[in-house]
Amino acid sequence: MKRELNITVNGESYNLFIEPKTLLVQVLREMLGLTGTHQACDSSSCAACTVIVDGKAVKSCSILALQVEGKKVTTVEGLADGPNLHPIQQAFIDNWAFQCGFCTSGQIMAAKALLDENPNPTREQIQMQMDGHLCRCTGYNMINEAIQDAAKRLKSREAAMKLPAQKNLQSKWTQTAKSGKGA
Ligand code: FES
Ligand code: FES
Repeated sequence: MKRELNITVNGESYNLFIEPKTLLVQVLREMLGLTGTHQACDSSSCAACTVIVDGKAVKSCSILALQVEGKKVTTVEGLADGPNLHPIQQAFIDNWAFQCGFCTSGQIMAAKALLDENPNPTREQIQMQMDGHLCRCTGYNMINEAIQDAAKRLKSREAAMKLPAQKNLQSKWTQTAKSGKGA
């Protein structure tokens, strides 16, 4: 008998009716058409299917969809801002961190979960997070370098976003200093 599933995927809420044995990867790919999440093995051993569930990297082929009832899921489709790629996606391109790309969405989602939690990971911490992500074509060094580069890009983006607020504050101070009146 089908069961009800309420989930939020990439900011959209869904109310679905599914067989209890349905895997999260099946819901994402077959019911929601989010085929950026790849399924490459039948043994929970490649991590190509990784998505983020409530902030944690999760293999979507190894979890029942009903286990994510009420949770927030992010897939690779949820990263770009319109035509602008997410800094992690751009860093993977610029550092030649993939070839066929089959493992890449899973790698990028695992990297995002890490950088959200730890914006300054060491090389070893990146290695630990990416342990178990199998790639048949690219050197793992390039993937590690892409994630270190992504961390720098995210920090610059955050600093740039803070800049307008600081500028406003500065001009307020300047006005106050000139007029001698408090804001
Ligand atoms: S497809 Fe999920 S671990 Fe391989
Ligand atoms: S880029 Fe081909 S499997 Fe990783």
